[in-house]
Amino acid sequence: VCGIVGYLGHRPALDVVLQGLRRLEYRGYDSAGIALLNGSDSLAVERSAGALSNLEERLAASEREHFAGSGGMGHTRWATHGAPNDRNAHPHRDHSGRVAVVHNGIIENFAALRAELEADGVELSSDTDSEIVAHLIARAYEAGETAGDLPATLGRIADRLTGAFTLVVTHAAEPERIVAARRSSPLVVGVGEGETFLASDVAAFIEHTRDAVELGQDQVVTITREGYRVTDFAGAEVETKPFTVDWDLSAAEKGGHDYFMLKEIEEQPEALANTLRGHFSDGVVLDEQRLSEQDLRDIGKVFVVACGTAYHAGLLAKYAIEHWCRIPVEVELASEFRYRDPVLGRDTLVVAISQSGETADTLEAVRHARTQHARVLAISNTNGSQIPRESDAVLYTHAGPEIGVAATKTFLAQIAANYLVGLALAQARGTKYAEELEREFEELAAMPEAVRSALSTVGKTRELAARFSESKAVLFLGRHVGYPVALEGALKLKELAYMHAEGFAAGELKHGPIALIEEGLPVVVNMPSNKGSSQLHAKLVSNIREIQARGAHTIVIAEEGDDAVRPFADELIEVPAVPTLLQPLVSAVPLQVLAAEVARNRGYDVDKPRNLAKSVTVE
Ligand code: F6R
Repeated sequence: VCGIVGYLGHRPALDVVLQGLRRLEYRGYDSAGIALLNGSDSLAVERSAGALSNLEERLAASEREHFAGSGGMGHTRWATHGAPNDRNAHPHRDHSGRVAVVHNGIIENFAALRAELEADGVELSSDTDSEIVAHLIARAYEAGETAGDLPATLGRIADRLTGAFTLVVTHAAEPERIVAARRSSPLVVGVGEGETFLASDVAAFIEHTRDAVELGQDQVVTITREGYRVTDFAGAEVETKPFTVDWDLSAAEKGGHDYFMLKEIEEQPEALANTLRGHFSDGVVLDEQRLSEQDLRDIGKVFVVACGTAYHAGLLAKYAIEHWCRIPVEVELASEFRYRDPVLGRDTLVVAISQSGETADTLEAVRHARTQHARVLAISNTNGSQIPRESDAVLYTHAGPEIGVAATKTFLAQIAANYLVGLALAQARGTKYAEELEREFEELAAMPEAVRSALSTVGKTRELAARFSESKAVLFLGRHVGYPVALEGALKLKELAYMHAEGFAAGELKHGPIALIEEGLPVVVNMPSNKGSSQLHAKLVSNIREIQARGAHTIVIAEEGDDAVRPFADELIEVPAVPTLLQPLVSAVPLQVLAAEVARNRGYDVDKPRNLAKSVTVE
């Protein structure tokens, strides 16, 4: 998840590219860089770690002449492979400095390709998976079947890559064209008068043109000042889908949405797919692994520590890990963990979940665990952040940057990551056969599509939100994995809509909270699958009848075709039927939308709720 801009036209490319990057900075700000076709024998390149402003400062201090020219490209990075420093910043070049590449995505077979290049005497100068592409292109352009043909060269190399990528390539020998390729990462072409743009998102060029073209899967595009040509990787011309962008500039940054959170909710299928990608091949693959197989086999107890939404994701880990691995799991608020002197030792695995990787409560829990010799596995969305750095093993959620303060896509990515940890433990301890592990993973791998269909509930949920935005309070109920989802639904509504909201285990209601039910009180109920667990389902139907009899207005989230609950649902939101453990991934979607839309109807800033910060670095 990085931002990419390419330009060939009649304006100074430096200005156009930098302006485009500014609009794409929401896609990542670990580093930024540009490569311009300045008419010389090599390219004009500048890169810098940190936000785009660092790059701009460097450029201001260098000679403007060097960066003249009306063609070039830029990149704003969200680190996946390699720390966010200068040497890993894009563009990456071959040794001649004539070929430059920017990349968004993850190249899964980079280790094999890197080994191939190294065996051939190529020394790499970064830790990224992206740099190899510059060397491969330079070599294939020099000699062989595609020599001298830049689009064909890119198609040929792209065909050798596995994973997800958008690649843009400039070659000093080709000042009149820029080529790009995509697979499973975004790329759009902007078509202006005597100028053509490439970008991850139309926001990058919307002030210059509204005529755009979306690229399909596995396609190569060549842009010139006059237009563009699209082919498949083998070079055969393909038809394109031109469209007109009808957003205004401020909406463009948010991908046409009213606020970032809604955009991030809609990005959840992609966030999930990116989190799963590359983490399973003949078993679970972690991003960093400083624990041996034996260490994992010896684990006799798991603690999950986290805060807020990450804690709710952690609660779900317990269901999966205990079920698959037969190891006891305790889930604890990180802020409580170390103060009660938990029993820890070498055979304890502490799973620390933190989107930011910086949360002080979680970091201190990790430090405490380490002083007690426990093993620590971090799940984080932020490459190279403190919690992963202090852990023995790391699994990154590749959900991309989350601008909205309230966690959405990172919540779903954390749930998926927890399940991967569960599978890794089951694998190490031999509590599941290889085929079973693969089957569980396949079910997980089908979830991006299921979440995509769950997004069809957005419209109906928005309508509901408009009707309930003046309510005094809302209750959320669930059982089994639906219970943490109820807690998360309530947290979202509290933090965004400043409304009193509580999540309860539905079975607990009769032990006290049922006294809260009064005429017209909205109660959101998360139904378990009738097919997955008819017993639980029946219990929850009884709970709904109890509250309905006392005047509650029931908003029921149930799987499609659940006719047994229909008569008791004043409002029904149907989500796709999925295996029980995976149900939170689809049922969380309407709850996120409900909270965001109630907040918007009440006139609050959805992306920046009061009193909150994205990363909480104090205890
Ligand atoms: C709620 C939310 C917070 C965070 C919590 C932990 O929407 O975003 O509850 O989940 O502050 O943050 P991380 O995951 O960065 O440790």
